[in-house]
Amino acid sequence: MNLTTRTTGSGFKKSDTVVLFLPEQDKKRAHAVPAALKFIADSIDLSHFKGKSAETAFIPLAGKPAVILCGIGKEKDIDAESLRRSAAGVSGICRDKSITGIIVIPPELKGMAGALVLESIAEGLFLSNYSYDKYKTGRNGNGKSLVKHAIFLTGEKKAPAILKKVEIISRNTLLCRDLINEISEKSDPLGIAREARTLARLPGVTCTVYGRKEIQKMKMGLLLAVNQGSRRPPALVVLTYRGNPRSKKFFSIIGKGITFDSGGMNLKPSGHIEDMRTDMAGAAAALFSLKAVAELKLPKNMYAVLPLTENMLSNDSYRPGDVFTAYDGTTVEIGNTDAEGRLILADALAFTEKRLKPECLVDIATLTGACVVTFGEIVAGYLTTDDDLGRLLEEAGAATGEVIWRLPLHKDYEENLKSDIADISNVSAEKNSGTIMGGIFLKKFVKTGKWAHLDIAGTARNSKPRGYRPKNATGFGVRLIVETVGRWKG
Ligand code: BES
Ligand code: ZN
Ligand code: ZN
Repeated sequence: MNLTTRTTGSGFKKSDTVVLFLPEQDKKRAHAVPAALKFIADSIDLSHFKGKSAETAFIPLAGKPAVILCGIGKEKDIDAESLRRSAAGVSGICRDKSITGIIVIPPELKGMAGALVLESIAEGLFLSNYSYDKYKTGRNGNGKSLVKHAIFLTGEKKAPAILKKVEIISRNTLLCRDLINEISEKSDPLGIAREARTLARLPGVTCTVYGRKEIQKMKMGLLLAVNQGSRRPPALVVLTYRGNPRSKKFFSIIGKGITFDSGGMNLKPSGHIEDMRTDMAGAAAALFSLKAVAELKLPKNMYAVLPLTENMLSNDSYRPGDVFTAYDGTTVEIGNTDAEGRLILADALAFTEKRLKPECLVDIATLTGACVVTFGEIVAGYLTTDDDLGRLLEEAGAATGEVIWRLPLHKDYEENLKSDIADISNVSAEKNSGTIMGGIFLKKFVKTGKWAHLDIAGTARNSKPRGYRPKNATGFGVRLIVETVGRWKG
């Protein structure tokens, strides 16, 4: 979608569709309509429209521009996230009516800066204007098109810069969804590595892809163990963005890239295996957050590290009871081949800390079913060894609407990872506290660095549309990480 601006006061054509936002229970609503839109107030009885959040109405006017009304709720309840959600309703109407161009008039609100209103509405529109229909043939597709142009009528001076920022971050969120929704046949380790290599075209970005031989040479025994059952080789992608050459500090994001999680020998049953092509959502979020940071030209330095493999079942698969040696020398007993995400992340975290020496490490992963049980599809769980890093992430989460909630890394959980034959087991001796145990395992592979672990098992994928996040891949994490890197003092 193309976002442009026009200053207030210009005329409208009959063929235009004008989007107007109205708060709830504003008795003077008709008078609140800008002068340029007086024709609306004259033609429509606005009293039928309540203005509840995300309430929408399409009003075709004979011989005049069509109007889409969008409610934004009670003024006292309006914030950035509520505006994003309300704006998502507009995309729904546009799809229904096959409207591909809109003129958007952002509301003037007493309690909120015009710049933030504009940004939030643009974001809500962009993020909800999405559908994954690559595999629908013309005959079976719904034939409905997306919005191509949105012109914002605004006097806001910074509008072009705000819309440019929204465009970059939102477009990369949609690209992240595409890569996750893509079938595992194509979104496989080499497919993702190929996608990563294209980022090296951006100023300041370099990309290194380590293949099987190099991964063997580096002795990443856990990534290789998970890969054993797959005919597709593993890959380790390291993306570097240098936006502040004067600083030696690097932010690092490490994303779980299991391109299909069958569970391995501990095979997942029906009902749990179908959507496991999305088990690389962490890697996708890491890739596209670095891409967005580079396109925004943020004056920061950043690494994205992506351990990539399938977790398959075959004659060569790793087995429960096997023992493998991690990159850092720790021996790990495989208690369950379905706890594979923590294995590939352990090698990637140890590698990142030792070889890249970043100022902080944040991993992002669809790690545990327990996280879905605890938080559903609404909030992501996180654990950290550093309160300041935790606060930074939480604040970025609140600002973007990608909300995270902390769980404890209490020492007493550690004894549950005891193994009779190796240093540790990859699963807990107890059934409970699954998300915490994933974090406790990963913590062992970060020696001194500031580290946080984001479990996005629930938020990466929606079972139904929720506001501006569609069904299936949501792209969760891209906006959170970009915002975090922007706030981080690097
Ligand atoms: N990829 C799954 C976690 C998952 C489950 C993500 C549901 C999204 C939706 C992960 O690899 C896994 O299978 N974890 C196991 C760990 C267990 C064996 C300790 C789980 O959560 O059951
Ligand atoms: Zn698994
Ligand atoms: Zn998994």
